[in-house]
Amino acid sequence: MTSASLHLDPAFVVAPVRRRTFGSFVEHMGRCVYTGIYEPGHTTADVDGFRADVLDLVRELGVSVVRYPGGNFVSGYRWEDGTGPVGDRPVRRDLAWHTLETNAVGIDEFARWAAKAEVEIMYSVNLGTRGVQEALDAHEYINHPRGTALSDLRRANGAEEPYGVRLFCLGNEMDGPWQTGHKTAHEYGRLAAETARALRTAESGLELVACGSSSSAMPTFGAWESEVLELTYDQVDHISAHAYYEQTDGDLGSFLASGVNMDHFIDSVVATADAVGARLKSPKRITISFDEWNVWYQSRFESQGPGEDWSVAKPLIEDQYNVADAVVVGGLLISLLRHSDRVAVACQAQLVNVIAPIMTEPGGPAWRQTIFHPFAITSRLAHGVVLRVEPRSGTYATTRYGEVPLLDATATYDEQAGEVTVFAVNRSSEDALELSTGLSGFGDLEVVESFVLGGGDPYAVNTREQPDAVLPTSLASARVLDGTLTADLPPVSWCAIRLGRPSSS
Ligand code: AHR
Repeated sequence: MTSASLHLDPAFVVAPVRRRTFGSFVEHMGRCVYTGIYEPGHTTADVDGFRADVLDLVRELGVSVVRYPGGNFVSGYRWEDGTGPVGDRPVRRDLAWHTLETNAVGIDEFARWAAKAEVEIMYSVNLGTRGVQEALDAHEYINHPRGTALSDLRRANGAEEPYGVRLFCLGNEMDGPWQTGHKTAHEYGRLAAETARALRTAESGLELVACGSSSSAMPTFGAWESEVLELTYDQVDHISAHAYYEQTDGDLGSFLASGVNMDHFIDSVVATADAVGARLKSPKRITISFDEWNVWYQSRFESQGPGEDWSVAKPLIEDQYNVADAVVVGGLLISLLRHSDRVAVACQAQLVNVIAPIMTEPGGPAWRQTIFHPFAITSRLAHGVVLRVEPRSGTYATTRYGEVPLLDATATYDEQAGEVTVFAVNRSSEDALELSTGLSGFGDLEVVESFVLGGGDPYAVNTREQPDAVLPTSLASARVLDGTLTADLPPVSWCAIRLGRPSSS
């Protein structure tokens, strides 16, 4: 057992917790939409064909906002294909994933689903094969109240009220050579600026996301953000970031340190955005929309590819997650929360079946993957403000990131409820961490509830047959004594400890 410490103080505030940190992503990809959220004929399907078992799990997951409809898919998408009588909708090729898109689900269906799931919609427009006019048309259909061709078409299609979407993504991963309609930073920056200007003219109060880099490993990383923001600074609110992590070559130590990479990614984009702001002498601060992040075993996908069969809703990247993956997801949420001053939106990619916390079997059950648990618990417990926690621990050597702290942690403080929640990861694959947390300045606190995931087999998984093989348990060692919280964090584990006023006080 080695020791580690945190010091919490109610005055050390990073920023308020943003509900949009707990976003997700539904792309027309694989089985995310078809046989994921939507499966008419399923025993739990409602009148609109949405799986009620999946809707229940989405609400339990605590998702706040959902990005839709892509992803790489959006860069060849004609939004109007997904409107009107379903039987009249065209079947199209989806170049991104080599599938056939039936368009049985479009914006009207998705908006109905989002209302049932109680999530905000974040809508991506196609800036790959399309441009300003089509983005304006989509916006008119989605948000214009009435009295125009496209708003009245929406009304005729059954949605009297506009959908009131605030968040629009200006394309997807336009820096990636794989993207349909891939562009240089200059080409994209100009198009994004003009699309944004037109959308703002159509409606005030929108929040617009310019595409940043599709990974911090892109050769254009940094230069892309700089040039795109030079061209769009006054027109956009957020710049996107995407990151996927996986364990490669059996290197668990580096994998568990994925949060170090995410921290560095965020800090680099913030520095780049602020440098552009300084050059432009602008007081405005651009924030980050980390609108794709997760564990994704991308190396497996690269060897398989999307295939050539052009079928409908074929299974794609249905990664099965283990305990170590869940610990990493918990750590990535810690990184996102820690940056709540500059990360305004974050979407775990994706929601169902496609690298997802929720899995379904067509005609069968839905179940929670291991990564479901840290997301659901963090979303439920993170309230109030995020605190700077001043962690201290030993380090360990990693191949990818050098010396890395064994402990990763953050905490939130809900002054009104008198509650503090500590979120922590022990990255050691061998030793438990004896964590001690100073709580001066909060008054009397006691442990209200605690959760730990890990400490056993890091490669254990949940399956259709054993959906609850991996579940969080209570962290029995967590206790508060004389203003100090102590807890033993087992190796390769994520935990959350909620503290509140003693029941007798
Ligand atoms: O989430 C899967 C894919 O990853 C998305 O379509 C794309 O934007 C990213 O490369």
